[in-house]
Amino acid sequence: MPITTCVFDAYGTLFDVAAAARQAAGEPDCKAIKDDWPLLAEHWRLKQLQYSWLRAVADAHTDFWEVTQNGLDWALEKTGHDGDPVLRARLLALYWELQAYAEVPEMLATLKAGGLNTAILSNGSPDMLSGAVKSADIEDVLDVSLSVQSVGIFKPDARVYDLVGAHFGCTKDEVLFVSSNGWDAAAATGYGFTTAWVNRGGEPMDRLPWEPAHVLQDLTGIPQLAGL
Ligand code: LAC
Repeated sequence: MPITTCVFDAYGTLFDVAAAARQAAGEPDCKAIKDDWPLLAEHWRLKQLQYSWLRAVADAHTDFWEVTQNGLDWALEKTGHDGDPVLRARLLALYWELQAYAEVPEMLATLKAGGLNTAILSNGSPDMLSGAVKSADIEDVLDVSLSVQSVGIFKPDARVYDLVGAHFGCTKDEVLFVSSNGWDAAAATGYGFTTAWVNRGGEPMDRLPWEPAHVLQDLTGIPQLAGL
């Protein structure tokens, strides 16, 4: 079946999750993290994801915004920056306006011009996703942002991937699912999507029962994978 629908993870895939800490580190009020912002960003992201998985297995769902704040609080304490409310507030504010990777607008515009459906499928809450999409100015080239909030569990639960077929009325084999999270791309392979892992950092493949069908360094090759 040809690909009709390209679905993207949000954080780390379309939007640069390290951008909040990187940008804050260059601002006078947040210079406390000018040297260790990469470590802070890494801890923040890993804890945010761990908390999403733990809440999924423990049947303790909450909004992704709460998980994002909990992850940041752990990371700030770990790096010795707890007790800096100005820094915390700035990092959280920047999370609502994360930069998109440079190739994102043109890549999405090419997919739309080629007649494909385009969507985000993310753990992010609808308001977080809407803030990021607006700030990246990609509203016109995305058909929809699908949030886990409507099913009340985080990825990689199959009920999240089910949202794509439910929205577009397409079959699994019509979907190209794209994620920078190796575990997300792998689980989506297990679900039945054709998948692409965007491995910008040259990370090792996750040891899971499934593997992504394609591995790319950035998003420029997506239109070709989608058959354009
Ligand atoms: C998301 C996280 C997993 O956008 O990056 O769903």
